[in-house]
Amino acid sequence: MATQKLWGGRFKEPLAEIALNFSSSIEFDRHLYEEDIAGSIAHVEMLASVKVLTSSEANRICTALNAIRKEIKTGKFKLTSEYEDVHSAIEQRLTQKIGALGGKLHTARSRNDQIALDERLFLRSSIKEINKLITNLQRVLLNKAEKNYGVLMPGYTHTQRAQAVMLSHHLLAYINMLERDYERMQDCSERLNKSPLGAAAFAGTPFPINRLKTAKKLGFDGIVENSIDAVSDRDFIIEFISGCSLTMMHLSRLAEELVLWTTKEFSFAQISDAYTTGSSIMPQKKNPDMAELIRGKTGRVYGSLINLLTTMKGLPLAYNRDMQEDKLPMFDTVKTVRESLLVMAHVLVHTTFNKFHLEEELRTDFLTATDMADYLVTKGIPFREAHRITGEVVQYCVTHKMYFGNLDLATMKEFSPKFEPDIFDFILPQTSVKRKQSAGSTSPQEVKKQIKNWTQTLRKRKV
Ligand code: ARG
Repeated sequence: MATQKLWGGRFKEPLAEIALNFSSSIEFDRHLYEEDIAGSIAHVEMLASVKVLTSSEANRICTALNAIRKEIKTGKFKLTSEYEDVHSAIEQRLTQKIGALGGKLHTARSRNDQIALDERLFLRSSIKEINKLITNLQRVLLNKAEKNYGVLMPGYTHTQRAQAVMLSHHLLAYINMLERDYERMQDCSERLNKSPLGAAAFAGTPFPINRLKTAKKLGFDGIVENSIDAVSDRDFIIEFISGCSLTMMHLSRLAEELVLWTTKEFSFAQISDAYTTGSSIMPQKKNPDMAELIRGKTGRVYGSLINLLTTMKGLPLAYNRDMQEDKLPMFDTVKTVRESLLVMAHVLVHTTFNKFHLEEELRTDFLTATDMADYLVTKGIPFREAHRITGEVVQYCVTHKMYFGNLDLATMKEFSPKFEPDIFDFILPQTSVKRKQSAGSTSPQEVKKQIKNWTQTLRKRKV
């Protein structure tokens, strides 16, 4: 069926099929039909309130729009590629249903302000969803931190073993990162919650519309005041994707740790069978694909960020058709981030830590070397010298294939007469963490405090 264009009057020839196929956005902007109809209803009600439409006209249009929403939802009206975009499809269907009156819907409006509105509404609800998922993942991490309270593990810098830390402390670090992601989403949502509707094409409209009224009806905090700005910018989508890029960066680091931790080499943790996959050729394999995919999908989100930044770069004001390309990266990012947050939470729920192995690893290494140096400092030796002495002890152990636990006092005294029998307690991993005093450190009291604070924060959070 040949569909009616919204702009046919000026043209002698219809749009070539190849040009329509190339320029149609319906394949992706059909996901915005709910937002589009909500915006149209608010617009029509406002037009009636300022008497541009009669209330009976407005009622008939709104009733039909509500019916169209149902038709789309149930698949009775299909948003197929013969339409230029979701806006044209809905307006055309409206005219089919109520005749020429349908043509009044677009009074004092343009697809330029319409699409900017749809996108803001879409992102506002997507952010709510994403923040729910962030909170859920934080709760899962908190639960793991509570359950594993007391378990120690090797902490790393440069992927080299560094100092003993509490596993809970490590997991809590991710809760903190995710909290900033949550706040960034919240900020973004507040900033984008302004209505562009009423900007019309870009210059405004001579009709006595009330922009604030439509804004309020749609739950916005106000209007994007400058009508040229309202239809020209997509900074709110870019800001959203950039916030999501940071979330994905955090998820990919956690994913990477899961990949490492579940190797034979680390053996720190295992993921249950339901969240791992096998190999088509190597029967023994159990692969952490979910974590790898989260790590991999991070690249897609970064790509979307650069995609849209590049699309927008150098565009003259106001609307340009280039901007239609904003929807693919926006939808893809929402989908990717939502799925990644959800899958990560499931994977973590089904991950168990090998407590005994972690502790064994602490014993067979030099993770308390810093504590040995600190010990000498408490005996009056300057830290730099204490560092050198301890380094020599480590070198001795490496040469003799032993660990701190195998040393006796006489040997230690050869490195420094300041070593006394209490050194042996001092260099136990448990003592090491307990002796930490600084705020936010890995000491059991500090970690307990953090767990308590996060329990309160996350319990209070209504999402
Ligand atoms: N499909 C278009 C987009 O997404 C809607 C706005 C079209 N405006 C126009 N003047 N052609 O950007």
